[in-house]
Amino acid sequence: MSEVYDKLLACYESCRKRTDFQPKVALILGSGLGALADEIDIVTTIPYSEIEGFPQSTVAGHKGRFVFGYIGQVPVVIMQGRVHYYEGYPMTDVVLPTRLMGMLGAKILFLTNAAGGINAGFKPGTLMLIRDQISTFVPSPLLGKNIDELGARFPDMSEIYRKDLQEILEKKAEELQIPLEKGVYIQFTGPAYESPAEVKMAGLLGADACGMSTACEAIVANHMGMRVCGISCITNMASGITGEPLSHQEVQETADRVAKQFKQLVKAGIEAFADI
Ligand code: HPA
Repeated sequence: MSEVYDKLLACYESCRKRTDFQPKVALILGSGLGALADEIDIVTTIPYSEIEGFPQSTVAGHKGRFVFGYIGQVPVVIMQGRVHYYEGYPMTDVVLPTRLMGMLGAKILFLTNAAGGINAGFKPGTLMLIRDQISTFVPSPLLGKNIDELGARFPDMSEIYRKDLQEILEKKAEELQIPLEKGVYIQFTGPAYESPAEVKMAGLLGADACGMSTACEAIVANHMGMRVCGISCITNMASGITGEPLSHQEVQETADRVAKQFKQLVKAGIEAFADI
């Protein structure tokens, strides 16, 4: 067995000592969405600091805990605060929480994030359903000895973001009259925002939005057979698109401004996953 898998099993045991809860959906909350976890029907919580070996998030404003509970009838595990590669963890630690949620029983992974808009048709506040991703600029979380217990050495990535889940989310957005764009997400390492030339490159490669998370999590989830969906909140236009400098403050302000709609859509989508 690999060290990575041993660590994962130790974290799994540590969680199972606390709860036997069986989630169906795993939800990772991006910037501005953290409060969603406080608004659900909570069964129990586990602070990351109480899970041995678990990577701790260092970003201010990111709470670090798993919240177990129900959204409608659907049992969920929510990551209130995620770990980013730019914090300095090895990629296998960054994706450990995602794998752990899969091992705890989650069949569906719902990813959310804040992202910079590359597509000129977007504005700060646009919500973008992720239809595909580019992860080529960050190390693959699957490098190293394959964890056969989780999935195949050469996993297929032809439909990381499942079309059936996308259709459900699009239908819910329409019902709720929440505008929802669609696009390709590209992950960079951060922590610096991109240069204008990098954003131009990403656009030429087919990306509509850029960020510092998500794609690596989607890869390990797909590797272990979880069905993945994701929505980005475009908090700012990416570097060079408007000529304005970027700031973390703008990212937070926009994320807070659209949080209500974003939370409504995520909750409605998860409730609709009850039937699949
Ligand atoms: N680039 C990368 N990550 C981001 C951005 C951005 O412009 N906005 C929010 N997260």
